[in-house]
Amino acid sequence: MNPTKSIRVLLILAVVFTLLLAPAPLSHSQRPRNVEREIDSLLRKMTLEEKLGQLQQLDGEGNGTFRPEHPDLIRKGLLGSTLNVRGAKNTNQLQHVAMDESRLKIPVLFGFDVIHGYRTIFPIPLAEASSWDPASAERSTSIAAQEARDSGVRWTFAPMLDIARDPRWGRITEGAGEDPFLGAAFARARVRGFQGTDYSAPDKILACAKHWVAYGATEGGRDYNTTDMSENTLREIYFPPFKAAVDAGVGSVMSAFNDLNGVPASANPFTLTKVLRGEWKFDGFVVSDYTSVKELINHGLAADDQDAARLALTAGVDMEMVSRLFNQHGSQLLKEGKISQATIDEAVRRILRIKFRLGLFEHPYTDEAREKTSLVTASNRAVARAIADRSMVLLKNEHESLPLSKALHSIAVIGPLADDHRSPLGWWSGDGKPEDTVTPLTGIRAKVSPATKVSYAKGCDTQGDSTEGFAEAVAIARDSDVAIVFVGESAEMVGEAASKSSLDLTGPQLDLVKAVHATGKPTIVVLINGRPLTVGWIVENTPAVLEAWMGGTEAGNAIADVLFGDVNPSGKLPVTWPRSVGQVPLYYNHMNTGRPPEATNRYTSKYLDVPWTPRFPFGYGLSYTQFKMTNLQLSAQRISATGRLTASVEVENVGKRSGDEVVQLYTSGYLKQAQDSRAISEYAYKRGAASLLDFLDSERSYRLVQLAYRQALASYMTSLEQLKEAVGTRSLP
Ligand code: BGC
Repeated sequence: MNPTKSIRVLLILAVVFTLLLAPAPLSHSQRPRNVEREIDSLLRKMTLEEKLGQLQQLDGEGNGTFRPEHPDLIRKGLLGSTLNVRGAKNTNQLQHVAMDESRLKIPVLFGFDVIHGYRTIFPIPLAEASSWDPASAERSTSIAAQEARDSGVRWTFAPMLDIARDPRWGRITEGAGEDPFLGAAFARARVRGFQGTDYSAPDKILACAKHWVAYGATEGGRDYNTTDMSENTLREIYFPPFKAAVDAGVGSVMSAFNDLNGVPASANPFTLTKVLRGEWKFDGFVVSDYTSVKELINHGLAADDQDAARLALTAGVDMEMVSRLFNQHGSQLLKEGKISQATIDEAVRRILRIKFRLGLFEHPYTDEAREKTSLVTASNRAVARAIADRSMVLLKNEHESLPLSKALHSIAVIGPLADDHRSPLGWWSGDGKPEDTVTPLTGIRAKVSPATKVSYAKGCDTQGDSTEGFAEAVAIARDSDVAIVFVGESAEMVGEAASKSSLDLTGPQLDLVKAVHATGKPTIVVLINGRPLTVGWIVENTPAVLEAWMGGTEAGNAIADVLFGDVNPSGKLPVTWPRSVGQVPLYYNHMNTGRPPEATNRYTSKYLDVPWTPRFPFGYGLSYTQFKMTNLQLSAQRISATGRLTASVEVENVGKRSGDEVVQLYTSGYLKQAQDSRAISEYAYKRGAASLLDFLDSERSYRLVQLAYRQALASYMTSLEQLKEAVGTRSLP
């Protein structure tokens, strides 16, 4: 061996070794201060009123300003947190009251719903989950954190982690869909994006896992409604995204509006204390959802305001959002011995702990100059566009109708959502501004050749029954080579308090599509919406359907990227699409029945009036190319309880274009949900290229915990036959 070389290797090793031994640079939260001791010292100084003040969060005005009463409450130490107060100037002004004029100088924590972007709006979370690419969610939440932080916001009420199996529930739009595995992957990614490894960093904010728990299972898809389920379903389906968030270090959790098995989630000791604190060792704080403490009376659990405060506090809620019952009744409850000093102190401790971890005491203010240049920048927009590109799902593409040529002679762009600036931003649009939105019409105009004539007609609204605009829409379709019709939902039809009993297109939208289609011109339908819709006629009659969801600030550019082939769509549905609302709930990982549906046997599990299969199964999505998967191999036929199993498959792009594919692996087994997506993997494939893909069942330990919980099986055997059927590009219908 060449001695000089070996010395160099040794030297390099030595350097690496020294680097490893050298103390890591102190991160913001690892500052050499003993947080618990500082909290002890603060607790000793605080009056009961000041303690209760830290448990109080109050709402600001919709435009980001604070309310007239806030400064005085803060000055007296009676208000620890606000929501909706934002903007560097507003937050600084209020923070100065806390830091300069209050006795103990405890900073205010400014919260805001930064759900899918602050000012640069990203695709709705359901759309982002359609990318099946958690890294995309980590990027978008990182940017959202940076923009929010630059605007004085230190805490977001996100990620929303509710598994949703019912598209009637408008809040399905805010989550990652119906699957616990995908939901957990996105939960981890979003917490990492918002918080990083240290949320006192200057571009990070505190995240909040919500809504704890089972809010997505609200009966009938009706918002704020009751939920009832077995502990098994809770643990297997509804808990995993929250567990993933806690494991990723989420600093706060929000207790939900719903009641769970008869006990409201905001006064539920089982979920708030036994599971969250006891089993999962969560050491952050719990904030109630908006007035959900007061609502304990409506639930019928609390006799009155004082009782509601007692029930929420003793169950494990630390901070009360908007209602003021902890504040109004804390002292009396203590006097009467109905709550202990230790309960109050512990709630204060948890909140102060997070305020310390946030670095709020050292850096309470926001740079007012930065906010003017750091929002909705070109680079943030570029990321929003790239994520929207990946979020779109091609639902139908007969005779390769898509992609369209950029050199078409003429295109008719039609529909109520074709040039609408608001709907792509979704319901929770942070501080997003409609004027920043690239609409589909603008995106298409920017994409096609200068010689292409692009005509536009709105045709109708998303609501009402006026068909006055149909004639113009039909006329421009007749005059064009192709018609692209944009229909779906407007922003106020999704999100909170947006439950629906029908998933059909609203207003005269379907009739508009029919009228344009009747011209005989190729009619492409692009859906802009926040939940699965029942669009049977469109899927059966038009040649191409693209699910664009509510794609955010850059939606129009991304839609044009896909329509004209600059991007090959690779999104997959994170939620099942029913044929009819009557099939709901319809989801892929349902339990087996003793009588699986059979067309020729009446006495099997199905409907008389609609096929049992969904319109589109979970995991479905087409591409402009085709992939072939062969040669599935398992590393073992049988594994022990602690064993690991690797599955591999050969994937080949056998089509004409390069493209990305999400390869999905499903497993099934007795006593488990019928199918279970356990591994997802995405790779880019050049045309004609093949590669070997390995899945490692990294969730194995979780699965075994669950099996132990069921006390059903001591070890687990994977059935090769079942697994063989279950690798592909979608779930089995
Ligand atoms: C919603 C929460 C939200 C809160 C604050 C509630 O109505 O359920 O998701 O974070 O309001 O805006």
